[in-house]
Amino acid sequence: MNSPAAGFTPLRDRPAYRRLAEHFDNVSGLSLRELFDQDPARGQRLALEFEDIYFDYSKQRVTDETLDLLVALAEESGLSARISAMFGGEHINVTEDRAVLHVALRAPTSEVIDFDGHDVVPEVHEVLNRMGGFADRLRSGEWTGHTGQRISNVVNIGIGGSDLGPVMAYEALKHYSQRDLTFRFVSNVDGTDFVEKTRDLDPAQTLFVISSKTFTTLETMTNARTARDWLLAGLGTPEGDVSPVAKHFVAVSTNAEKVSEFGIDTENMFGFWDWVGGRYSMDSAIGLSTMLAIGPDGFGQLLAGFHSVDEHFRTAALRQNIPALMGLLTVWYTDFFGSQTQAVLPYDQYLNRFPASLQQLPMESNGKSVSLDGKRVDYGTGPVYWGEPGTNGQHSFYQLIHQGTLTIPADFIGFLHTLNPVGQHHDLLTANVFAQTEALAFGKTADQVRAEGVEDSLVPFKVFEGNHPTSTFLVGQLTPYTLGQLVGLYEHSVFTQGVIWSVDSFDQWGVELGKVLAQRVIPELQSEQPPALAHDSSTNTLIRRYRAAQGRS
Ligand code: F6P
Repeated sequence: MNSPAAGFTPLRDRPAYRRLAEHFDNVSGLSLRELFDQDPARGQRLALEFEDIYFDYSKQRVTDETLDLLVALAEESGLSARISAMFGGEHINVTEDRAVLHVALRAPTSEVIDFDGHDVVPEVHEVLNRMGGFADRLRSGEWTGHTGQRISNVVNIGIGGSDLGPVMAYEALKHYSQRDLTFRFVSNVDGTDFVEKTRDLDPAQTLFVISSKTFTTLETMTNARTARDWLLAGLGTPEGDVSPVAKHFVAVSTNAEKVSEFGIDTENMFGFWDWVGGRYSMDSAIGLSTMLAIGPDGFGQLLAGFHSVDEHFRTAALRQNIPALMGLLTVWYTDFFGSQTQAVLPYDQYLNRFPASLQQLPMESNGKSVSLDGKRVDYGTGPVYWGEPGTNGQHSFYQLIHQGTLTIPADFIGFLHTLNPVGQHHDLLTANVFAQTEALAFGKTADQVRAEGVEDSLVPFKVFEGNHPTSTFLVGQLTPYTLGQLVGLYEHSVFTQGVIWSVDSFDQWGVELGKVLAQRVIPELQSEQPPALAHDSSTNTLIRRYRAAQGRS
C-alpha cells in the first residue's frame, strides 16, 4: 500500500474547518427568507451556468462567507492537487494501490492520459471502436443468432456498477434507442429476476451481455450459467453441444481468463482496466448495452458530455466549479447541520432509475469511517442518497421534507424542453419543480396561515417552517450529452467530498464480509448431512428453519 497518510491534516484541525464551525454558530439561525430579503439579487448571483446546465444554489443555507470558507477548506484539503493526481494517473486508490482513471474513458483521441508511463487513450479508443463495430453489426441485423435469426433482445447480466449505470442509461436514453430492440437487465441472484425478464423472449433472437469487471461475482456468474442453460435448452441443443454460446453471449470484463473458462470466445469480449472502478464504469465497455441501444454516435455524445464536465472540474476555479460546490455543500450539511441524507429528485420520467443508480456512487465511495491514515474519523462522512422522479415523490415522502424534523438537502433536476411535448404536461411538471423549491425554502408562516382564515387550533399544523435547502439544475434537454454531464457532475461531487473527508473513495471493503459469510452459509444450506453450525444462536436457528423447509434437517 502507498503511504496515504503523508502530509494530511485531520479535518477538524484544518483552519478553515475551525472557522466554518464558528461561522456555523453565527449563520445556522439565518433563514432563507432573511437571506433573500437582504440580497434581492441572490437568486441570480448564486447560480452558475455551464453549457446547457444552469445550477441555482441560491436556495442553499449559505452566505458568501460560507462559500468562501468552504472553498478555503477545499484548498486546505488539497482538492486541486488531488484533481491533478487523479487526472495524472496517480494511484489515489491507496488501499488497492490503483489509479482512478475513469476520466480517460471519455477523453478524445487528441488527449494524452498517462498511466504508469504510457498513454491509455489509444487503448480506450481501440475498445470503443470494437464496441462500435459490434453495435453496428447487431443493430443492422448483420450479427445473427445461432439459427440465423436476427437478434432482437439484449439481456445485460451484471450487478452493482455493471448493472445500475447501464439500466439507468437505457431508461434515460430510451427516446434515442433503436425501438425494435428489446433490452432487459438481470442483476439479482433471486431466480425470479432471470425468469421474469426472459419469460417472453425467444432464445433464438436473444443476446446476453455478461458484464462483470471480475467475472467472479456470485450473482452475475449464477445468472450467466442459468442464461446459458436457458439458451441451450430453448434451442433444443444436444447434450454437451455449447456451440450456440458463441453467437448469443458476449462478455464485458477485465478478466479474459475467466471469460474464456466460461466458454465465451475472447474475440467476443470487450475489455477494460483495473483503473476503472465498478461504480465509475458505465462509460467503459460496461456501457455496451447502452451503445447497442443508442448506437455508437449516441454513445460518443454521452462520453463527450462526461468529458466536458471533466474539463470543467479540472480547470474551473473552485468558486465557479459546479461539482466542487455540490460536494462542498454536502460536506456543509453533513458535518455542520448533521444531515444524514441527500435527496435527488429528477423531474423527468426517463430519469426514473437515476436516483437508484446514483446511490452506489456516493455510498460505496464515501460510506467510510476510517480516514487515509487508518484512523477512525470523528466527523460525518457519506450521507444516504435517495430519491424518486418528480412528481411521484410529492405524493409520497415530500411531506417529511416539508414538515418533518430532519434537514434533507435536495437536488431538483428539471429540463427546459421535454422529449414528449404532449398537451400541457411539461408546463405542469416544471411548475412543480419551481413550486416545490420555493415552498421548501420559504414555507408559510403562522401569520400567513391565519390570514387565510384558518382557525387558531389548526394553525400549527398548517405552518411550513421552510428553510429546507435545495439546488435546482435546469438543463436544456435530456440527451446523451447532458446525461453524461449530469452523471459526471455527481462523480466529481463525490470525489470532492472524499477529498475533504480524507477517505479512500475508490475502495469498497465494506461489501466483502457479507460475501465471504455467504460462501460459508451456502454449503450449510445445501449439505445432505446436518452441518455443524458454529454461528450465533440467531443465525444457527435461521439456517435450521430454512433447511427444515427444504426437507434437509
Ligand atoms: O458490490 C461490490 C462490487 O464490487 C461493486 O463495486 C461492483 O460494481 C459490483 O460488485 C460488481 O462487480 P463485477 O463487475 O466485478 O461483477
